[in-house]
Amino acid sequence: MTMVNEMVQQRDEAARELPPLPTWESTPEDLKAATRTIKSALRRRIEASGRTVEQVFAVMDERVTQRVEEIEAALRNGENAWPVVEYADIESGRVSAADLALLQRRGCLVVRGHFPREQALGWDRDIVDYVDRNAFFETYQGPADDFFGSVGSKPEIYPIYWSHAQMEARQHDRMARVQSFLNAQWRSSSEGVQWFDPDRDSLYPDRIRRRPPGADSGGLGTHLDPGTLDLWMTQAYQKAFRHLFDGSVEQYDPWDAAYRTAGPQYPGTTMCSAFRTFQGWTALSDMDHDQGVLHTVPIPEAMGYLMLRPLLADVPDDDMCGVTTNQTFPASEKWHSLLLRASAGIPDVKAGDSVWWHCDMIHSVAPVTDQKGWGNVIYIPAAPWCPRNEEYSASVREAFATGSSPSDFPAEDYEREWAGRFTADELNVVGRRGLGLD
Ligand SMILES: [Fe+2]
Repeated sequence: MTMVNEMVQQRDEAARELPPLPTWESTPEDLKAATRTIKSALRRRIEASGRTVEQVFAVMDERVTQRVEEIEAALRNGENAWPVVEYADIESGRVSAADLALLQRRGCLVVRGHFPREQALGWDRDIVDYVDRNAFFETYQGPADDFFGSVGSKPEIYPIYWSHAQMEARQHDRMARVQSFLNAQWRSSSEGVQWFDPDRDSLYPDRIRRRPPGADSGGLGTHLDPGTLDLWMTQAYQKAFRHLFDGSVEQYDPWDAAYRTAGPQYPGTTMCSAFRTFQGWTALSDMDHDQGVLHTVPIPEAMGYLMLRPLLADVPDDDMCGVTTNQTFPASEKWHSLLLRASAGIPDVKAGDSVWWHCDMIHSVAPVTDQKGWGNVIYIPAAPWCPRNEEYSASVREAFATGSSPSDFPAEDYEREWAGRFTADELNVVGRRGLGLD
């Protein structure tokens, strides 16, 4: 037995006797008290494993620093940090081993030619027809949440879910194929459990963004979306992140789906009820890389750093580096300056390309003034079938049937009486399976 294996085995044995963690399966009433309690319990657990919090954090710090420096070097050389793959290579199973390795390393991807450009531009026109025909701009009440800004009285984010364009893209064979490809980057089975079905998506309905030429936008700050305090406080997430807290930090794997697909989440205006392997969108216009586009910190294991950072001594005991419920998880210069050095924007994309990033990754949208061209996307993630997504699909079916806003979003319900909504008889096999109808 090698030294490393021996060490791992010893730690595994020790893990069985580590002090258990307190859990809160719904939002704690006193967030600060719960934060103090969980932080001291996590520290005790790490220390009982035979390592200090500082030692465990140092392992993650070193791992992430290597990646940050690698990305900084790439950016300095004028390279783009985002892997790019042709849709045709995904379809024919010919994505190279080097590209697959880079996808694992960076956790993000641009799929070129995911849809023919003309089809994407046609979908964009269909959306314009759909909202015009139903007098959307005349009836628009303003943003129902303050998560995204708007330009004057015209929204950038359309709280529209059930257009033909969106549903055709969601249930398209090409979408299903890319989602399967992305899901396969994760370990969906482990410990004798299949945590999700990589070949069946759960059709997560989200909104549309159409940002017009000439727009000024403040962008969207660096944040991440997988959860908030629940990431430290619920039993399922404590198990998902178990290696960070039981002395086996070297085994932490951001692609392991274990315990991530069934547990509860704390409710909030920014929550996503679904488990997403990747967040994503499909471009319905050409967009240049300097026109207020998406950036990520393309380091999937940075999540381990984000989870451990609040346990260091310089963070107040009742503070999780600014994470609290009902707001997105912030990534800040104050606590995460190392990570933010690696922020990398997408390359130029064309209508019909799609863009994907690991669900745990830090992302932001750059500001822009006097935007050149349109910035139009439909948000379609990879949300594979699993207990959590099956549960949410019941409310999706209901929203689809009535043309309502899905329950993860403000109840604006613009489309209920709209003409030209996508209907149940237009669902294909992918769409029916995605909604849990077959
Ligand atoms: Fe986000």
